Amino acid sequence: RIAGPSGLVIFGVTGDLSRKKLMPAVYDLANRGLLPPGFSLIGFARREWEDEDFADEVYRAVKEHSRTPFRDEVWQQLSQGMRFVQGDFDDDEAFETLKKTMQELDAAQGTGSNFAFYLSVPPKFFPLVVQQLKKHNLADQKDGSWRRAVIEKPFGHDLASAKDLNEIVHEVFAPDQVFRIDHYLGKETVQNILALRFANTLFEPVWNRSYVDHVQITMAEDIGIGGRAGYYDGIGAARDVIQNHLLQLLALTAMEEPAAFDANALAAEKTKVLGAVRLPKDLAKSTVRAQYAAGWQGGAKAVGYLEEEGIDPKSTTDTYAAVKLEIDNRRWAGVPFYLRTGKRLGRRVTEIAVVFQRAPHSPFDHTATEELGQNALVIRVQPDEGVTLRFGSKVPGTSLEVRDVSMDFAYGESFTESSPEAYERLILDVLLGDANLFPRTEEVELSWKILDPIEQFWAKHGKPAQYESGTWGPVEADDMLARDGRSWRRP
Ligand code: BG6
Repeated sequence: RIAGPSGLVIFGVTGDLSRKKLMPAVYDLANRGLLPPGFSLIGFARREWEDEDFADEVYRAVKEHSRTPFRDEVWQQLSQGMRFVQGDFDDDEAFETLKKTMQELDAAQGTGSNFAFYLSVPPKFFPLVVQQLKKHNLADQKDGSWRRAVIEKPFGHDLASAKDLNEIVHEVFAPDQVFRIDHYLGKETVQNILALRFANTLFEPVWNRSYVDHVQITMAEDIGIGGRAGYYDGIGAARDVIQNHLLQLLALTAMEEPAAFDANALAAEKTKVLGAVRLPKDLAKSTVRAQYAAGWQGGAKAVGYLEEEGIDPKSTTDTYAAVKLEIDNRRWAGVPFYLRTGKRLGRRVTEIAVVFQRAPHSPFDHTATEELGQNALVIRVQPDEGVTLRFGSKVPGTSLEVRDVSMDFAYGESFTESSPEAYERLILDVLLGDANLFPRTEEVELSWKILDPIEQFWAKHGKPAQYESGTWGPVEADDMLARDGRSWRRP
């Protein structure tokens, strides 16, 4: 899978995402030999840069963040195709310069007029950039060439705004030209959910309400909001992470087997299951939102969210969110899916735990199984990538005692192949026109439909709870599971 003649235009190229993820991903793809020889990279931003300044910036980003070793010959070749276009997003002249630059690269580098436009810009600029691309005829595909739009998250901030944005985007680009980024789908371990479920016979027979007690999906981060106050305040954990990453993980965990492994079949199954998600009636009992308070993390003092630079001291934005969801279908009826995410938690970990029911009957006496938990299959998404199966085993000795043990699969031990970074995989897929790992319009809208009533409920009902930085979240979240006779796993 090597991309054909093409180029990438990054809008908002001076931003954090571009420097930390996109530029290094382009270099790593080139280094792995997955880009065509004349691949071109155009940066578009307001900064007063010349082409050389842009190339220098890419060079620094690559040196700092790329995954693969630096090779001068790869860099020399890649930097031949780097150009910078300076301008505001409403600057018509700049878009004409962009057009000219693309034509020049077609001639000089052989990009074949195939370009992807990556909108790594604040969401409020999505409509403007898309409309400018239309106005300057940059979205037109001529003579077998292609043009594609890659749109970062968040795609809207509720259902209504996501619909509006979809409308604007689809006035300019056909559905198969649009690639909405959810970088979790670019992660190796996330793609493995479907392999684990559907390439094996072992798991699928028990993957349903007859055997599964509940599912926990956790995405915990130890970092705070860092320098992202402007983006984060007013958005919060549920919109930032649950609407996209966690609901995609839920969809992959809960969906039926697709008829084929292609974008249409995958989207059809994900759409079906997201459409069956139901919120419990009492949102006060089945959702929790909270903000981090000061505390200790990694041996250092951490300030509370409201004391972070750039945050409104009266902000009610959630930095932690937990929700209980149900899925109204034959496979999952009555099985709760608990989703939680938060910043400044105990440590960085993302996992999906499928927790099984207890044995219906035990031939052992009660004291023998006192320490036994429920069987669980844990998909360790990151950072310690792998899968763990938890089950009970007899403790060696002359008496009978059963205790939980783990059977582990670790990527690092089983494979010598290295995982590409999520953005590498996704950029390559865009250039190849492979849409398997990109959420469709319907998925995005259904996810907002799930989240909207929760956000509306929170907006009406008081202030968020608090949790100390460096802990596992607010007691309210523990209470939420305790009411169901369950508890969160401590990853
Ligand atoms: C992003 C969120 O989508 O995912 C961030 O906007 C979050 O708030 C990030 O920190 C986490 O990504 P990862 O790949 O480090 O788990």
